[in-house]
Amino acid sequence: MKILLVIGGGIAAYKAAELVRLIRREGGSVTCVLTEGGAHFVTPLTLAALSENPVHTTLWDLKNEVEMGHIRLSREADLVVVCPATADLMARMAAGMANDLATTLLLATDKPVMAVPAMNVRMWQHAATVANVATLRARGVTVMDPDEGAMACGEFGPGRLPEPDAIMAAITQHLVPRLRPLTGRHVLITAGPTHEPIDPVRYIANRSSGRQGFALAAAAAEAGATVTLVAGPVSLPTPPGVQRIDVQTAREMAAAVTAALPCDVAIMVAAVADWRAADAATQKRKKDGSGHIAPLDLIENPDILAGLSHGTARPRLLIGFAAETEQVIDHARAKLARKGADWIIANDVSGDVMGGADNTVHIIRADGVESLPRMAKAEVARAIIAKVADAFC
Ligand code: C5P
Repeated sequence: MKILLVIGGGIAAYKAAELVRLIRREGGSVTCVLTEGGAHFVTPLTLAALSENPVHTTLWDLKNEVEMGHIRLSREADLVVVCPATADLMARMAAGMANDLATTLLLATDKPVMAVPAMNVRMWQHAATVANVATLRARGVTVMDPDEGAMACGEFGPGRLPEPDAIMAAITQHLVPRLRPLTGRHVLITAGPTHEPIDPVRYIANRSSGRQGFALAAAAAEAGATVTLVAGPVSLPTPPGVQRIDVQTAREMAAAVTAALPCDVAIMVAAVADWRAADAATQKRKKDGSGHIAPLDLIENPDILAGLSHGTARPRLLIGFAAETEQVIDHARAKLARKGADWIIANDVSGDVMGGADNTVHIIRADGVESLPRMAKAEVARAIIAKVADAFC
């Protein structure tokens, strides 16, 4: 959780220091932007010490601007919180002004903005402020309602800054659906190859590294999902927060998938071996000196994806992968129908995709194809998980 905290010039600014402490306590990071007015009530040194980050005060600071341009500053956070949001600051926000660092950031940001007003009761109730708040809310800014009570100026009514605990709760409530949109969902992922024994020392395998499936598990966990990762034999670290079940063969993978049901989303990334030895030898097969090899009988493995699609506990969203070396989209379209999946993610594995760091994928749905640019597998995973989250909204 990364918060950009804009501190306006009001007596309540001192409470922003407490808010910084609370955000840090919740594991978040805070970068403070202090308006000229705010600096009369709380010092940059206090905020820098509490946030352990540089405090930004002006547009015209060459050193800060070189290290972190104001556009980047406005977009690095997950949420911009304006606290206290004074009548003047909200008026400038509503008017789209950019006459200091705070308002410039607020105009340049593409992140959600939350404003926590604090002002005299008459200022809060003034038609101009009422209109500005309505404008900001209509534009998607979350404007908290101020508390009611005795004010620093001696008057009584709405206008007090809500308590830092309440602001923290609003921040969490605001951020959780955005940052962790899959909270409460169970995502089941298969990854890696399978190894199908021929005898105790030999097996049928493929070149799958498991990296794309593991990256998807990591992205789903980051998005708040409960993740079960059924992994074939790969030597990759388990992503944080992911429950991993290691298997060797397709049949073990199928059993682990069935045991992990029910789930909301299943993403079958594993390169499951299509065949296994009909009769794996219990002892090592030997050369007999004749120059001939005893034939190896193969039989087909269960299709885990198709099984899920036609089973009784079909996930609401069922996604398969298609590793193709030619006619990538046509083959993937055929697979969508054949397997009964909702989406097939096709990747062209004719180059160095298997085991490589990057991937180029096409998402095939009944209603069309969406091609993503070539990206690192972690980026591909985040993009797919964002689309999964959208499908559940
Ligand atoms: O048929 P093909 O192997 O090309 O299909 C690929 C998709 O089907 C992948 O999502 C893969 O995980 C899944 N699959 C499966 N069980 C199999 C074979 C493939 O779940 N036995």
